[in-house]
Amino acid sequence: MIIVLDFGGQYNQLIARRVRECNVYCEVHPNTLSLEKIKAMKNLKGIIFTGGPNSVYTSDSATISTEVFKLGVPVLGICYGSQLMAHLLGGKVETAPVSEYGKTDVSIKAAGSKLFEGVSANTVCWMSHTDYISKAPEGFTITADTPVCPVAAMENEAEGLYAVQFHPEVLHTVEGTKMLSNFVYNVCQCAGDWRMDSFVETTIQQLKEKIGNGKALCALSGGVDSSVAAVLMSKAIGKQLTCVFVDHGLLRKDEGDQVEAVFGPDGPYDLNFIRVNVQERFYEKLKGVTEPEQKRKIIGEEFIRVFEEEAKKIGAVDFLVQGTIYPDVIESGLGKSAVIKSHHNVGGLPDYVDFKEIVEPLRLLFKDEVRKAGRELGIPDYLVNRQPFPGPGLGIRIIGEVTAEKVKIVQEADAIYREEVAAAGVDKNLGQYFAALTNMRSVGVMGDFRTYDYAIALRAVMTSDFMTAESAQLPWEVLHKVTNRIVNEVKGVNRVMYDCTSKPPATIEFE
Ligand code: XMP
Repeated sequence: MIIVLDFGGQYNQLIARRVRECNVYCEVHPNTLSLEKIKAMKNLKGIIFTGGPNSVYTSDSATISTEVFKLGVPVLGICYGSQLMAHLLGGKVETAPVSEYGKTDVSIKAAGSKLFEGVSANTVCWMSHTDYISKAPEGFTITADTPVCPVAAMENEAEGLYAVQFHPEVLHTVEGTKMLSNFVYNVCQCAGDWRMDSFVETTIQQLKEKIGNGKALCALSGGVDSSVAAVLMSKAIGKQLTCVFVDHGLLRKDEGDQVEAVFGPDGPYDLNFIRVNVQERFYEKLKGVTEPEQKRKIIGEEFIRVFEEEAKKIGAVDFLVQGTIYPDVIESGLGKSAVIKSHHNVGGLPDYVDFKEIVEPLRLLFKDEVRKAGRELGIPDYLVNRQPFPGPGLGIRIIGEVTAEKVKIVQEADAIYREEVAAAGVDKNLGQYFAALTNMRSVGVMGDFRTYDYAIALRAVMTSDFMTAESAQLPWEVLHKVTNRIVNEVKGVNRVMYDCTSKPPATIEFE
C-alpha cells in the first residue's frame, strides 16, 4: 500500500487515483496522521506528500515530523510536499522571483534516476507554484530544473527520498503517469497486484463487519453513485438494507418512475425499496429562496429529515448509506481545500443527524472508478453509464427561486435536449449535458404576439474526473434542432442559449 499525506492541495485524490491505476492500493490521510499509526500500517511501501496552499516557512503552515523520513519507507514530495521535504531537511525554500503556472518545459538532469527511468530529457510538466526550492538539502542531487526553477526535482536515492516541484498526477504532465509508476514500482517495489474487484470484495467484507446485524438505510437517487452504493450494500447485508428513494419533485422528466422500475419490486434487485413522494414539501421549503448555497442546504437538510422519518417507521436504523464520491468531498471543502459548493450529500448535512453513523463506501473514488466498480458488481451498462445528476437535482439547474412551473419547463426542455443529442449520436464524448433554466426573461415574438418568457441554457461538457471540464462543440444542426423544438414545444420559453464556458472558471452545474 501507498499512502498519500494531504497537505491541502486540490488534486490530492488524483494522486491516489493514479497510484491505483498502477494496480497499487492507495489511501489518502491527513498530514496530521500520527507516526504510530503510520508505523502500524500493514504492507506500507511508500508515502507521497501532496501539494498545498501554504508557504513552508510560515509558522502556521501544515507540516510533519522529520521522523517520517526515517521510517525506511520511500517518500515522494509533490509541489508543497517537495518544498516541505527540502525545508525540513536543511535546504532553502523562498518566494520564487518568477512563479510558474501551467505547462512548463522541464529538463531532466539525471539519466540514472529511478524516478525518471524512460522519461525524456526534455519533458512538459504542469507547474503551479510561487515558492521554490532555492537550495537542495545536503545529500540530495538535483535531478531536474527549468529556466526559472533551479530545483524542479531532487532526490537522495540512498535514503529513498524524492521530490518534484511539478504535479505528475495531472494529465498535462505528459510523462507524469510514467514517473508515478516509476515511484511505486522502481522505488517502492510494489507488486502491482491490486485490482478494482478487490476493492469490491474488500469493501463488501468491510461493510459486513461494520454493519453486523444492524440495519441500514440507503439514500437511493437512481444515479450512478447511489445505485452502486446500494448494490454494494445489498451484496454485503441483503435485506437488512432498505433503500429510500425520495422524489423531491426536482428530478428529470419521468425519472421517478424509471428508478422505481429498476429498484422497485418488479426490478432485478432483491431490495427493500420505498419511494417517498414529497414534491410539495420541497417546493414549500424552497419558496422565495434564491441564494444557491441556501437552496443546497435546504434540499440537503430536507433529504435527511425525510430519511430520518422513514427510518423511524422501519425501527432502529443505525446506519445511513450515501453514494458520496470524492469530487463531492473535495469541492465541499471537507479537506483543507477551499469550499466551491456544498454538495448536498456532504456539506449540506445538518449538524444533527439521527443515525449512529453515515456510511459512504465510495468516498475515495472518482466517477469512472465508481463505474468500473459498478460493472464489477454486474450492474447493467445503461445504469452504470448514466450521466451524473446532482443530489439537489433541478433545484440547482433553475437559477433563482424554484417553482413547480419552472421545474416543468426545465424537465421538458432537458428531455428534448437529451433525446436529440442521443438521436444524433453525439453523446459519446460528453461527460454531462443538460438544460438549465436561467432566471432571465426577455422579449420575443411568436405568431405576431409579443412574448416575455424565460431563456433556457444548454450545457454540454467533456470531462473525465468532473474536477475540470471543457465545453463541448456540439454540431450546429443538433443545437438548432433542439432550439427549435424547445421554443415550439415548451410553454414559457422563447430563447435558447449555449454555454461555452469551461470549468474553471465556471462550474458544470449553474449553482
Ligand atoms: P460542479 O457543478 O461542481 O459539478 O462542477 C461537478 C459534478 O458534481 C455534480 N454535482 C453534485 N453531485 N450532489 C451530487 O451528488 C451535489 O450537490 C452536486 N453538485 C454538483 C455535477 O452534476 C457534476 O457532475
